[in-house]
Amino acid sequence: MSELSKLQASCLFEIEDCDNLKKLEMLRSAIFGKDGRLSGAMKELRNLSDEQKRRHGSEVNELKSLLIERLDEKFRKLEIEELDRKLASEAMDVSMPPRPERFGKLHPLTIVEEEVSDILSSYGFFFADGPDIEEEYFNFTALNMPDHHPARTMHDTFYIHNLANENGRKLLRTHTSPVQIHAMLAHGAPCRFFSIGRVYRSDYDATHTPMFNQIEGLMIDERVGFPHLKWIISDFLRKFFEVKNLRIRFRPSFFPFTEPSAEVDMNYEIKNGRMAFGVGEKWLEVCGCGVVHPNVLKSGNVDNDKYQGVAFGFGLERLTSLKYGIPDLRGYFEADEAWLNVFGFSHYAR
Ligand code: DAH
Repeated sequence: MSELSKLQASCLFEIEDCDNLKKLEMLRSAIFGKDGRLSGAMKELRNLSDEQKRRHGSEVNELKSLLIERLDEKFRKLEIEELDRKLASEAMDVSMPPRPERFGKLHPLTIVEEEVSDILSSYGFFFADGPDIEEEYFNFTALNMPDHHPARTMHDTFYIHNLANENGRKLLRTHTSPVQIHAMLAHGAPCRFFSIGRVYRSDYDATHTPMFNQIEGLMIDERVGFPHLKWIISDFLRKFFEVKNLRIRFRPSFFPFTEPSAEVDMNYEIKNGRMAFGVGEKWLEVCGCGVVHPNVLKSGNVDNDKYQGVAFGFGLERLTSLKYGIPDLRGYFEADEAWLNVFGFSHYAR
C-alpha cells in the first residue's frame, strides 16, 4: 500500500469516525493546515522527477478533492444532527397549561388619591407639594400659631433633634397646611391648589397611626368667601361618595389658620350593619375648613386687602374607610398581602 493510499485510508476513516463539528474543524486543519498531513505529501512532490511529479501530482490532487468532498458532506451531516439535537432539547409543548399568574392589587389609598385628584382638578385646582420634613416656621408660625400658641400642643409633634435654622426646629409636618404657605410663596395670588401627602403625629391605636395622609385645599382670589367653600365641599363630598342628596352641615369650630372656621359633617345611618350616606339623622365629621386668616395670607406674601382665601383639610384614610368600609386604620400601613387582597383594587375591574 502506497503512502498516499495509507494517508487516504486514515483520513477517510477519521472523517467518518468524527462525531461533532468542533472535532471536524480540528481534523480539517490537521489535514489541510500549513503543517497538515496533505501538505506533507505535497512537499514530497518537489523531490520527484518530472514524470513522477505528473503522475503523483494528479493522485495527490484527486485525494485532495476527495477529502474536501467528504469533509463537506460530513460537515452538513453533523450540522443537521446538531440542529436536530438543539430543537429536541428546546422543544416547547404549546398545549401545556400556563403557570398560574398572580396579579397584584392597587392599594385603596392609591385609588382614593386618584378619585380625589380627579374631582379637585375639575374645579381648576392644581397639585402642590411640600416637604415631609418641615420647619417649625412653616408648620406652625406661618399658619398663625406663634411660638407659645396653645395650638402647638394640639399636635404631638415629632421634632428632629439638633436640627434647626432661622426657621426653628426641623420636624415631621403634623398637617399638610404648610403646603398652603409654600404654594402662595411660589405662585402668588390668585391661585387654586390642592395637596395630598403624609403627615406625622405621635399617636398609635385603632383610630390613630403615627403617619397618615391628608388632603389640603386652598383657593385665593378677589371676593372669595364662605359660599365658595360651601359649594366646593358639598359638591366634592356628593361626587366622592356618589350620593346626590347627601346632606352637609357646617358646624362652627376653631383653627388658628382660618377665621371663621368650621367642621363639616355629613348625614348617615346604619343599614344592615353598614353605613349608608345621605339618609338618616346621624352626623359624621369629615372635614375642617374656613376662610384663610389674614396673617396666613401675609405669610404667603399675598395682599390681604385685595385677596381672600378659603381652605379645607380632609383625612385621606378617613375618606377611604368611609367609602370602602375599611375598619382599622392600622391595616393601611402594614403591607399585608392578605389585607390588600381583601381591600385592594384590581387593575382591570376599575
Ligand atoms: N390642618 C388641619 C388639621 O390637621 C386641618 C385643616 C383645617 C386644614 C382647616 C385646613 C383648614 O386647610 O382650613 O387638623
